[in-house]
Amino acid sequence: MSRSPRAALLAAGVAALVVACADTDPTEAQIARGGELYERHCAACHGGATGGDISDIPPRHNAEGHTWHHADCELERIVLEGMPQREGYPEMPAFGEELSEEDVEAILAHIKTWWEPYQRASQAETTEQVC
Ligand code: HEC
Repeated sequence: MSRSPRAALLAAGVAALVVACADTDPTEAQIARGGELYERHCAACHGGATGGDISDIPPRHNAEGHTWHHADCELERIVLEGMPQREGYPEMPAFGEELSEEDVEAILAHIKTWWEPYQRASQAETTEQVC
């Protein structure tokens, strides 16, 4: 019987964690909006849900690419500010004038649906450490 308060506390802790995680989960609407934005602004250079490999430039954002190696705040910064162009390759443009932070979050939520569960978990950990 002496264990029950502890068990109750543990249950409350787990429940709080579940709620905290659910809060940050993207909604279906956010993912759908991210998909539309991705098709309009990104797909022509970065491709779709499948295909390509890790050495592609522009990089694939799907499970074959390396986007999942980078934290959310780094990805957001790249999309809003762009990257210096490498000779012989197309430029990663800055989207800060066209897209809001919410737009970029929606695009990332969409891209993440293409990743394997271990890639999503690893990238979430990286984001926690870096951002
Ligand atoms: C005109 C082609 C072009 C368009 C359009 C474009 N990109 Fe890129 N993007 C690139 C290139 C090229 C690179 C690689 C630059 C480098 O490595 O030097 C890149 C790199 C990136 C990276 C960093 C590398 C990585 O691992 O993912 C992210 C994130 C990214 N793009 C996201 C986007 C998003 C999101 C959009 C749409 C809003 C977009 N890009 C539109 C060409 C493009």
